[in-house]
Amino acid sequence: MQEVIVGVVGLGNVGLGALQILAENADQIALKLGFRLQVKVVCSRAPENKALPPELGGVMRTRDWRDVVTHPEVDIVAELVGGTGAARGIIDAAIENRKSVVTANKELMALCGAEIWDRAISAGINLAMEASVAGGIPIHAVLREGISGDRITGIYGILNGTCNYILTEIESRAAEFSAVLAEAQRRGYAEADPSADVDGHDARSKLAILAALAFGERITPSDIFTEGIRRISPVDFQYAATLDHTIRLIAAARQTPSGLILSVRPALIPKSTILASVRGAYNAVWVRGRYGEDTFYYGQGAGSRPTGVAVVSDLMRVAREIRNGSPERVSPFAHERLGEYQPIPVTLQNRAFYLRFRVVDRPGIIAALSRILAAKNISLDAVVQLPSESKSNLPFVITTERSSERDVREALGEMSGLDFLVEPPLALPIETAL
Ligand SMILES: NC(=O)c1ccc[n+]([C@@H]2O[C@H](COP(=O)([O-])OP(=O)(O)OC[C@H]3O[C@@H](n4cnc5c(N)ncnc54)[C@H](OP(=O)(O)O)[C@@H]3O)[C@@H](O)[C@H]2O)c1
Repeated sequence: MQEVIVGVVGLGNVGLGALQILAENADQIALKLGFRLQVKVVCSRAPENKALPPELGGVMRTRDWRDVVTHPEVDIVAELVGGTGAARGIIDAAIENRKSVVTANKELMALCGAEIWDRAISAGINLAMEASVAGGIPIHAVLREGISGDRITGIYGILNGTCNYILTEIESRAAEFSAVLAEAQRRGYAEADPSADVDGHDARSKLAILAALAFGERITPSDIFTEGIRRISPVDFQYAATLDHTIRLIAAARQTPSGLILSVRPALIPKSTILASVRGAYNAVWVRGRYGEDTFYYGQGAGSRPTGVAVVSDLMRVAREIRNGSPERVSPFAHERLGEYQPIPVTLQNRAFYLRFRVVDRPGIIAALSRILAAKNISLDAVVQLPSESKSNLPFVITTERSSERDVREALGEMSGLDFLVEPPLALPIETAL
């Protein structure tokens, strides 16, 4: 059967990883498909410097992505540039030229995925985006195919490998956040500008895509309450451990009777939960369905080869669809609305909280804090204080019973005027559903 022709824009970590797999694994891919995938043109800002796998033969190299999206023989364009600038132009132009698209771009798909899918469907071309969430974990295929017969009620993910690496290093070595981050940057695990990772924005884009896939709603990053990990310190892991918990950046989408609650935030999770054993740069997604109950997916969340596998598998999926006739498609971002998954603010939820204070020690502190909490009807569960040398920066923790997040935030606001606080209290939800 005639081959399917691929053009690749972006020859960075993911682009070169995908090309290596396409080259080295070409025979097995052809056996699985019944035809060959052939790369004819590749593009980057400086393509002449790239070491391409020799098995690819004499592919055309160009600096201008327009050469790829208008190439008369190209059936599928792989957009592996990233960001929302050039990548948007590449995908739009590919669709205009009736090329199918494979992308790894979480940022763009989280922001404008719905619109891009609508255009792709109108143009009758295929679009695939497996690599955009959780690198090597095939979570799109799971939600779109594997468990699509279920009715999803919750997703809990560890979706940012850099944050998970930093948190587990703080946990295991009792090192401060800034020291672990600097080391991760030196080793190339974290970007020079770490904000997208450590402030939760990367995980937020991924959750927006996953929640859209799972619930069929048009969810954008702005629907997701987002808090990063900059304030987590070794002392928080010590206190969490005394409560039989640990701390992870949890991306969660859960259906409640009043609506869909979406958040990316550090949370206490029980040490006994399987998510607590996800360490280092690994990712994991836990999906809860009404019928199939819990399923769990684990793997490398990034990296040239794991993400390359996701891209190549998408190329194969799309190539099959091209060869077998493109089916009528429904955008993953817009099922017919059931109207039951409307995003609502996190302040409407009731959770147990971990409140960590740093204070200048003096009598009456617990009484002052308890008064403010009691006035908001927040019941204390425990007051925990580990031995500490420092009386001028003394940490201790209060855990609360399940309370309205709005009340907890209002209480924290009132505490901000207390002169014994060295810094604003840290409030983390305690995840009881896992
Ligand atoms: N890295 C991962 O592990 C990972 C995991 C999952 C998803 N992703 C996603 O995969 C995508 C690519 O990530 P990456 O890590 O491979 O990025 P990268 O290493 O920075 O590579 C980006 C590539 O795009 C090329 N490029 C940039 N602007 C261009 C333009 N205007 N025209 C043509 N080429 C252009 C660059 O060219 P030059 O090399 O010539 O400068 C480079 O080859 C992103 O959407 C990212 O979010 C990455």
